[in-house]
Amino acid sequence: MNLSKSIFYISIILMVLNLSCQSEVKKETQIEAQKYAKELHSFAQPNESVIKHLDLNIKVDFDTEIISGTATYDIENNNASEIVLDSKFLEIKSVTADGKPTEFSLGDFDENLGQPLTIKINDDTKTIGITYNTTEKTEALQWLNPQQTADKIHPFLFTQGQAILTRTWIPIQDSPQIRITYDATVQVPKDLMAVMSAENPKEKNSEGIYSFKMEQPIPPYLMALAVGDIAYKAVSERTGVYAEPSMLEKAHYEFGDMENMVKAAENLYGDYDWDQFDVIVLPPSFPFGGMENPRLTFLTPTVIAGDRSLTSLIAHELAHSWSGNLVTNATWNDFWLNEGFTVYFEIRIMEALYGKDRANMIALIGRQDLDEELDSFKDEPEATKLKLDLTGKNPDDGMNSIAYDKGYLFLRTLEEKVGRETFDAFLKNYFEAHAFSTLTTEDFVTYLKTNLLEPNAVDFNVDEWIYQPGVPSNQAIIASDKFSNAEKVLNRYLNNDPIDKSLTEDWTTLEWVHFIRNFPKDMAADEMARLDQAFDLSNATNSHIAMVWFEKAIDKDYHGNGVDAKIEEFLISVGRRWYVETLFKAFKRNDKVEAALEIYRKSRQNYHSVTVNTIDDLLNFEPTK
Ligand code: BES
Ligand code: ZN
Repeated sequence: MNLSKSIFYISIILMVLNLSCQSEVKKETQIEAQKYAKELHSFAQPNESVIKHLDLNIKVDFDTEIISGTATYDIENNNASEIVLDSKFLEIKSVTADGKPTEFSLGDFDENLGQPLTIKINDDTKTIGITYNTTEKTEALQWLNPQQTADKIHPFLFTQGQAILTRTWIPIQDSPQIRITYDATVQVPKDLMAVMSAENPKEKNSEGIYSFKMEQPIPPYLMALAVGDIAYKAVSERTGVYAEPSMLEKAHYEFGDMENMVKAAENLYGDYDWDQFDVIVLPPSFPFGGMENPRLTFLTPTVIAGDRSLTSLIAHELAHSWSGNLVTNATWNDFWLNEGFTVYFEIRIMEALYGKDRANMIALIGRQDLDEELDSFKDEPEATKLKLDLTGKNPDDGMNSIAYDKGYLFLRTLEEKVGRETFDAFLKNYFEAHAFSTLTTEDFVTYLKTNLLEPNAVDFNVDEWIYQPGVPSNQAIIASDKFSNAEKVLNRYLNNDPIDKSLTEDWTTLEWVHFIRNFPKDMAADEMARLDQAFDLSNATNSHIAMVWFEKAIDKDYHGNGVDAKIEEFLISVGRRWYVETLFKAFKRNDKVEAALEIYRKSRQNYHSVTVNTIDDLLNFEPTK
């Protein structure tokens, strides 16, 4: 072969190599470009152009009940000529691209999703700025008058973002797959203080202007703000409580174990990545037990029982700092990845701190919830799969407690199959490998097979657990001597044995809850009267005990010891959806809708929109306005 021929061949080889190399690069950028999974609940097109950082500058006006200001985003643009954000019930005043006015449009309104906000950008646009305000229809915000707070002096405001409500107070790409860092400046009335899911002030300042920084990227559903007359008290260097002044000491006592919980959690699954773990006790209308807003969990005051008996809720929200906030469900169809892992982690924290007895009682309460939820979905088995299909649904209506309790049972069963040590090592690696990113259920299944099942040659019916309705027969069996004992005591009383208070004097809240929940169907109201006389259960101050007792009173048509007034008072003051829904469901199944509506007409104005939506549906309530 002469020289020119060899040069010719070499250049051909080089060309081919180069081409194949280029196509590799191309494939990679394509994969890179498609890194966001298909999303049912956001108009955003993050594969085209995506927000990366938010600079929020807002004013909170209690007189008009409006938040107004500017949201400025740093964006990453993949050669797109527009960027699409989610917006619902917002008034968009003007939009800029790199500081210059640009065109924008709001698309058709969808009842669940709101409207796409489409903004014109260039190849090289780096930032967009949106001047906007919220409206009275906002679903995330609840504006409370002083009467609706603990101290009854100042108004209060809080937000609830999960699942798709952040778009009703900030225009944003509202998908859990998207992560942003943020800075915020929030102006509030001078006598109030603002806190966010970010680095927070610990004291009021005289200007009423607060600055925030969230340096770890978070999904938009974790953006959160609360404004009120609040004060801070530290539990440890990195944990503490915010509450209205009259609640601060009680809250500080109730959550005194917070630092120990963080330590226990770190021992299990690795370092706490968010520096600070604080909680804020909100007014009683807060629609959840807790909400895991990063660095600052939002809490219902009903968790303050005086004896630290309901603090598994804190363990739960803390656990979300790993499962949910660090490793996030990619879509709301994968919600069980957030909640199932969190319940598992919560119960492990409780076991580490307080022992197996307490952990198993919590697990068994969830096991009974699971049976009740499975029963309620007997005509809709699809809803009992871990992997959901929320097509066409508001995620808030489609997400149910299956994610929590079946998710937990799946992971506990897996743990028992592979052994705790192996399972813990796997989970720790799972959190580390996926920190600050998102997974679909399918991503998880692949990871599980590759990193746990195959290396340990374990055969496990993963697909049945995740993609089939109901509970597979290889489920872990959970048992508790304490609960067996509570059942025995109940049976004695049902057999008319005299009340013997020594049998129950060392009972914890969980035993009382179990005892009451297991009153048999045919138990008469008289029987409740006898127990009420002995234990004054109608006046229980523990919110969980009160709630299950009230449920039974409605079921059994029991009206003694002033219980009707207590139920009404409870429903008017507490907006925690789980409690409220449980009681209104009891009215409904006992053909007492009229009685329910009579209370609901008074209580509805105190509830946040997520509770209102659920109860309106349940009672077919049509507001007259
Ligand atoms: N993240 C949830 C609350 C939530 C779920 C809000 C779905 C909106 C949509 C929170 O962590 C939670 O699970 N709260 C429970 C507490 C519990 C199971 C210990 C609650 O509020 O009851
Ligand atoms: Zn949760």
